[in-house]
Amino acid sequence: MKKLFAFFKKDKNISTNIDLDMKRIPAHIAIIMDGNGRWAKQRNLPRALGHKAGVETIRKIVKECNKLGVKYLTLYAFSTENWNRPMQEIDALMKLLVEYLKNEFEELNANDVVINSIGNISKLPRICRVELDNAYEKTKNNKGLVLNLALNYGGRNEIVDAVKEISLDLINKKISKDEITEELFSKYMYTGEMPDPDLIIRPSGELRLSNFLLWQSAYSEFWFSDINWPDFNEKHLTLAIVDYQKRDRRFGKVK
Ligand code: FPP
Repeated sequence: MKKLFAFFKKDKNISTNIDLDMKRIPAHIAIIMDGNGRWAKQRNLPRALGHKAGVETIRKIVKECNKLGVKYLTLYAFSTENWNRPMQEIDALMKLLVEYLKNEFEELNANDVVINSIGNISKLPRICRVELDNAYEKTKNNKGLVLNLALNYGGRNEIVDAVKEISLDLINKKISKDEITEELFSKYMYTGEMPDPDLIIRPSGELRLSNFLLWQSAYSEFWFSDINWPDFNEKHLTLAIVDYQKRDRRFGKVK
């Protein structure tokens, strides 16, 4: 089944007709939501308002992914390195997270979304942990999109945490050395049994992974754009997916 999207935007990277193959929608999309600060700066606004505008984009993109039948959406919301930002900005981000969970819970739950988090959330303020735990507990049996909010997330940290867990299970004889395979290692990641991301999107013009899903991105397809996250919308998402559908994924094999 193909869905024809007609876009009539001035935007130079957007063509007028876009063919989206609804049978080949990526199962897992991951996004590095970048460019909120630059978006705010261009408008002489405080950085916090850039993040606030970024939350509006989250609302749109979560809804669209669920509509398209994406199974997992992982959003890089706060990295282990983001603690080095000014306290005022960190506070603003944590408040936005709590507001998002409170304001969006009913609708996300009604749309069968699972609200999950990945990362070391034990270091987040208590109010964030309470809202995240509550949202997860109430939505964990939903059958729609799994929304993974990456919070206090770092790819290297995740690998180190996995090694610690595996060591404990070795010491406690729950597993043997020979059982440690790539498949088993993956299960010790915060993403557990989830499939690796098929498509990783990074807006804002930066061309790097920034410690995001280091293990899981081994065979992901990448899509970059100059658009800042607050300006990113459903059309850019569609463009990214259409582009992804044109890629030849060989996973190191020959056809
Ligand atoms: C990167 O832009 C963005 C972040 C570090 C935070 C992303 C968070 C949100 C969009 C909102 C809070 C999250 C939830 C889940 C409600 P930047 O600040 O690095 O932008 P810049 O590179 O242009 O300065």
